[in-house]
Order: sequence, then structure tokens, then C-alpha cells
Amino acid sequence: MYQAIGQENSNKKTLTWGLISSVIANVALVAAVCFVASSNADVGAVAAVRPAPMSYAPIRKVALREVQSYGIKNRALFRRNAAEASLQLSGYVPYPDTTGASLTSLPGKQEPSPYSAELRTTAAAIAADGKGILACDESTMTIGKRLEQIGVPNEEKYRQQWLELLFRTPNMNDAISSAILFEETLFPNAAYGTPFVDIMKANNFIPGIKVDTGVRATFKDGETITEGLEGLAERAQKYYKQGARFAKWRAVLRIDPSGAPSMEAIEANARSLAHYGKICQMNGLVPIIEPEVLMDGEHGIEVQAWVTEKVQAATMKALSDVNIEWEGMLLKPNMILPGTDSGKTASPEEVAKYTVEGLKRTLPAAVPGITFLSGGQSEEEATRNLDAMNKLFPDAPWKLSFSFGRALQASVLKAWDGKEENIEGAQKLFYALSKANGEAALGKFEGAHPATTGSLYEKNYVY
Ligand code: 13P
Repeated sequence: MYQAIGQENSNKKTLTWGLISSVIANVALVAAVCFVASSNADVGAVAAVRPAPMSYAPIRKVALREVQSYGIKNRALFRRNAAEASLQLSGYVPYPDTTGASLTSLPGKQEPSPYSAELRTTAAAIAADGKGILACDESTMTIGKRLEQIGVPNEEKYRQQWLELLFRTPNMNDAISSAILFEETLFPNAAYGTPFVDIMKANNFIPGIKVDTGVRATFKDGETITEGLEGLAERAQKYYKQGARFAKWRAVLRIDPSGAPSMEAIEANARSLAHYGKICQMNGLVPIIEPEVLMDGEHGIEVQAWVTEKVQAATMKALSDVNIEWEGMLLKPNMILPGTDSGKTASPEEVAKYTVEGLKRTLPAAVPGITFLSGGQSEEEATRNLDAMNKLFPDAPWKLSFSFGRALQASVLKAWDGKEENIEGAQKLFYALSKANGEAALGKFEGAHPATTGSLYEKNYVY
């Protein structure tokens, strides 16, 4: 280009040397700009290019690989912008991509857990037909508050008596496959008699253990992260040796018009659940993955359904990223209900529809069972809602069962009232409550409910 124009100018001979040199200098400048920009523009278009201001930026050698990856990133950016523009036309305001996914490589392939076969057997046994979990892993503080309500001091001796009452209930195994313990109760004080694990094994149900160490306010507006990953592998080995075969970790998310749950809280909790799940599986414990969206709030049932779906989807993605063995885990979600301060109620059929339809959109069919928490519902509501799920969705790909805490204990605690002479009656009631939920897990609950208490809701419930 430079040569051609120079020749043209020299042929004219009528121009002065100054003019020639000026033209040459200008053309050289333009040619340099053209070359650097790798432009295919013709000479006429070059005149439109304005020379850039002089820059003293250091010159860096750029490897071919880098140039190629820059091109790839640019293409990705271009595609994303194009996709977002199209999405906007469809009325959707695109959510910013915060995942950094384009820069992250795929998770590595991994050997299954050495306990793989055992995990599957345990998970299937926990969610066996017509059976569920008794969640009695309340912290010492929480169980203490309950004992105080019936005038019993919060001492180890009484906490021990209470759990023995439950675990020694005749034929408890008819509807309860397993129970979750708090660390203190997995390693009990020998002074108080037979260890719980031995009582449980004798009565043919599987011991589990809560392994998280509670929640800590971490994000905006007090949203929490659940802790307990530190030293978890060593603890899991210790729990396995002591007889535990499954574990529980509760992540807590709440709905608030200020913007909770934030994606930060959802994703961080999903990742912790996934790390916990993987560590447990590698050490022989079936993880119960519990992302609980609290029912506190003024929102309606649709909002509860929508937020829960997002939380579950993020949790499944995180579980896939750690190569969880789906067949060796269980999910423990909240049922979908209107917010407790919404002034609205929902029929068991509505609850069932929202709950199971949401799960169908997020949970792999390879997971053997869902064991719902009761979350503050009354004992009767929890049973009837579970029953409706099984009646309306008899072909759901997973077992739909229970892992109730409050909804299996409230009436029994009241019947016991801390008195020796009430133990037998309290155990009969516990059996009847368990049986009602066992029937609900088959969609066969009919008739009157044995509960003697109403709502068990507590704002911002701490386990
Ligand atoms: P609730 O059934 O009382 O909600 O408790 C179940 C549970 O284990 C929560 O982590």
C-alpha cells in the first residue's frame, strides 16, 4: 500500500519535495495503523482512520495461545451479549453470570467411594416402604427448652431418660427405620446405662448423626452459612466406628422482601452441603442433604415454591460438581407452604402439588428417597401433607417419606411429662404417631390423627 501510493506520487513530478515527503509520512502513518489493526479496508477507507495518540505502554510479547484464548473469550462474550439481548426481547431480565464457569475446568472423574455398595443399601433401608426417620438430634440447648416446658431440668440424666423412652418403644421399627442423634447421645456417658447405639441396634433401626456444628450469620442481613467442615473426615470415621451409618447437615435459608435468600447465601450453602455430602460418602455415611427454606414470612405459596426450586437446583449443581453418588444420598427438604405471616393456608393437595412438582424439576430420579422435615407444621398437618403427596403422586421416582423432629415428639413429650408412670402411655402415643406417618409415606393414612398438640411453629427456629 505504502509503495503503490509513493510510486503514484513520484510519477507526477510536478509536486515539490516537501509535498512528497509529507504525503509519504502520512501514508506511512496510515499504513502502520492499518497493519496493526490488521484491517482489510481499502486505501479510500484508510483516510477515515484517525491516528491514535502516542502511547508509551510497554510492549509485551504475546504467545499464540494467549491470542487464541482472547479470541475465545471474546466470542463467549459476544454470544452472551447476543443471548441476553434475545432474552430481553422475551421479557426476561437476564441474571448476571456470576459463576465464572467459562474459566473453570470440569470436575475431575473420580473413583466411587469404597463404601459405595453399603451406602446404597443403607439409603434404601432408611427410606424403606412405609418407614421414616425420627430426628432427635436437637442440640442440648433446644432439647433443654422443651424439657423446661414440662418442668424437667435440662440435665443429661433426663435427656437420657427422654431418648430411652423413644428408643425403647415396643415395635417402633414398624414405621421408624432410623434415628438421628446429637454427638452427646452417640457417645453417651456410661453412667446412664446401655448406650443408645446398642438399644437402637437391638431394636433394628439405623443410627445416624448430626455432623454440622450450627449456623453463623455471614452474609448481608444476617443470612447464615452452616459450619462443620473442619475435621469432618476424621469425625465421620469416628462416627462410623461408633455405629452411625448416616449423617445430617442442615442449611438454613430464609425468604425476606429485602432480597433474601441472596445468591451468595444459596450458593455458599449449596457448596457446603456438597462438600459435607462427599466427605460423608467417602467415609461410609449416607449424607442427608438438608437445604431448609424456612416458612417464616409474609410471602405466598408460589414464592415459597419458586425460592425452594432455586435453592434445590443450586444444591444439585453443587452435588454434581463433587461427583456425589446420587444412589447413596437422601434429600431432606421443606414442604412447600405459604409463609407463616401471610394469613393464608393451603390444602394438603396444594402443598403436595407444589412440593412434588418442584422436586420433579430439580432432583435426579437416581436419589432413592426424600425424607421431609416438618419445619413447624403441626403433627397432623405434617402427616396429612405427606399423605397427600403419596396419594397424588404414587409413581414419583423417589420414596416420599419423613424425617420429623417436632412433629414426632411434641405430643409424646406432653404425655410423658417427666413422670415414670407416664412412660408406657407416652410410648403408645409415640407408636401411634409413627404409624400414622408410616401410613402417610404409603399414601394410606385415614381417620383421626393421634396428636394432642397444635402448631409447632417457632420464628427463626434453631435446631
Ligand atoms: P423438624 O421436623 O422439627 O423441622 O426437624 C427436623 C430436622 O431434623 C431439622 O433439621
